[in-house]
Amino acid sequence: MEQRGNAGGRVCMSQTVFPAHADHRGELSAGQLLKWMDATACLAAEKHAGVSCVTASMDDIQFEEAARVGQIITIKAKVNRAFKTSMEVGIKVTVQDVLTDVEKIVSVAYATYVAKPVGAGKIELEPIKLLSAQDHLEHTLAIERRRIRLGYEQVFENLMQESNKEGDYYTFEDEDAVSTEFTHVQSIELVQPPHANHHGNTFGGQIMAWMETVASISASRLCRSYPILKSVSMFKFWGPSVVGDRLVFNAIVNNTFQNSVEVGVRVEAYNCEEWIKDQARHINSAFLIFNAVNDKGQLLTFPKIKPTTKDGMRRYRGAIVRRRIQLARKCMLSAKEDKPSDPWERSNQAYMSYSNVAALTHLAAKLGWEITSTLDDVKIWTHEEGDVLSLKVEMQVKIPSRLAFSLLSDFTLRQQWDKHVLTCEVLQAVNEDEKIYYVTSVPVTGHKPRDFVILVSQRQPCKPSEPYVVAVKSVTLTSVPPSPGYCRSEILCAGFQIYSESNSNCTVCYFNQVASGLMPYLAANLTGSSKAIEDIALECIKFLEREGSKS
Ligand code: COA
Ligand code: ADP
Repeated sequence: MEQRGNAGGRVCMSQTVFPAHADHRGELSAGQLLKWMDATACLAAEKHAGVSCVTASMDDIQFEEAARVGQIITIKAKVNRAFKTSMEVGIKVTVQDVLTDVEKIVSVAYATYVAKPVGAGKIELEPIKLLSAQDHLEHTLAIERRRIRLGYEQVFENLMQESNKEGDYYTFEDEDAVSTEFTHVQSIELVQPPHANHHGNTFGGQIMAWMETVASISASRLCRSYPILKSVSMFKFWGPSVVGDRLVFNAIVNNTFQNSVEVGVRVEAYNCEEWIKDQARHINSAFLIFNAVNDKGQLLTFPKIKPTTKDGMRRYRGAIVRRRIQLARKCMLSAKEDKPSDPWERSNQAYMSYSNVAALTHLAAKLGWEITSTLDDVKIWTHEEGDVLSLKVEMQVKIPSRLAFSLLSDFTLRQQWDKHVLTCEVLQAVNEDEKIYYVTSVPVTGHKPRDFVILVSQRQPCKPSEPYVVAVKSVTLTSVPPSPGYCRSEILCAGFQIYSESNSNCTVCYFNQVASGLMPYLAANLTGSSKAIEDIALECIKFLEREGSKS
């Protein structure tokens, strides 16, 4: 495989919103914006790859702000990480008012592009050059987002099966419910050269724009108003389309949720021959969520709908499952420091794991760590931000990083070095990389013992320069409610990053972001002396080196 790639995967596009880009309200049409976003991101990908690229998939996109005629749209796109043949591109869209100079974020999205050289061969992309701390952070998080997108179909299928098992509780006896058939819209487009790149591959953004038009007509049938696109669920382009293809778009409302409606669109392509034989190629299917407002800007309520076919029933449930996933994503990604731990459910597991690893990565990347104490093998750092105090303990250990990772990621071994831990058992081994543990701590005189339900997410590095990661945060399991004998405690963000120094040495960094309730305990240790922490760190090193010498 040929190797390609350089460090320049960043581009910026600025556009003034003209009436030709806007809808009847004078607001930038979502379809036009999607086209610009895809074009900018694709150029960033091509700048890195040095060959033509095609859109493989788009993660969930949310639109936070509308842009009006006369305002300026700026789209910044940057390759966050090159995998093998594909790249994640981050896209940030802002709108700026010329008169007031106020700038607002319209959307932050992530898309994946695959390098597609002319001819059949594949190319392996070079890694991107990381120039800033932000580049490093996005590079690390990109691999987590990739896990979510590549696992999305499976998560959806599992939830659909669960919803099948739960049985069909939906009734459609409401007389005012509108038949979904009434919202069916079909449209056709011929792909012409302006819709494609110079190799004739149809732009993904062009297809998205056509989809948005058809979906918005479908939604308008229900609300008798002009729908506004709020979000698009994660989707993939299953196969390529080229100039000369006839693209057939079929859209229908799948479900309504009080103030929003989900419209699904399926796109199929035919070339001339396939057209005669009626042999369609599935290009993609996407699910778009719309709102609608009245002239006073108030949200309209959508009528209930009733599906009339078996497929319609399945899609009705599919829309509920997608909504569950979207809500879970929103909840997880807007996590606040003092928020109680989230319930561990199938619909949010992928995002919980993401937020677990992402929180530790963010914490480790913070600037302004202050050194509190240094021994030869142990350094303690603290970081203060508002009323959040964080701790970092850096340990030099004479065992290979892989071994330290395997010993530290198994929390059932923790009692062997952490004298605060009394018991630790695995509650759920979700998969190889995610486990849920129940931990109890040794009681401090005059206090009830504490207990924790924690998610431990472990990650191996993709490159030798990256650390092994063991991320820890509290989760809520309905099967393990708090009990009177224990004080249920929360871990906001903690864990290890383990860097390889040589074949036989590594640096273990332990992080802990301390909840306000635990602050006095930690503060006492820090101000009295940081000896208690040093002692545990020394025990940890001893344990790792002892176990290391056995293997
Ligand atoms: N999201 C993100 N990346 C995905 C993906 C998804 N849902 N599915 C596959 N990929 C990535 C794979 O991880 C792989 O990346 P890597 O080499 O960096 O590991 C790359 O796509 C190729 O995957 P592979 O398994 O070899 O091929 P595939 O059969 O899954 O095909 C596409 C993936 C995207 C190449 C193929 O579906 C395609 O050509 N789609 C149409 C693209 C297009 O023309 N878009 C424009 C509008 S039509
Ligand atoms: P699924 O049926 O599993 O949702 P599809 O790819 O078949 O997946 O379709 C995606 C969406 O496109 C459907 O949910 C539906 O909203 C819409 N759709 C598919 N086929 C049609 C059709 N023949 N007529 C109208 N809308 C359709």
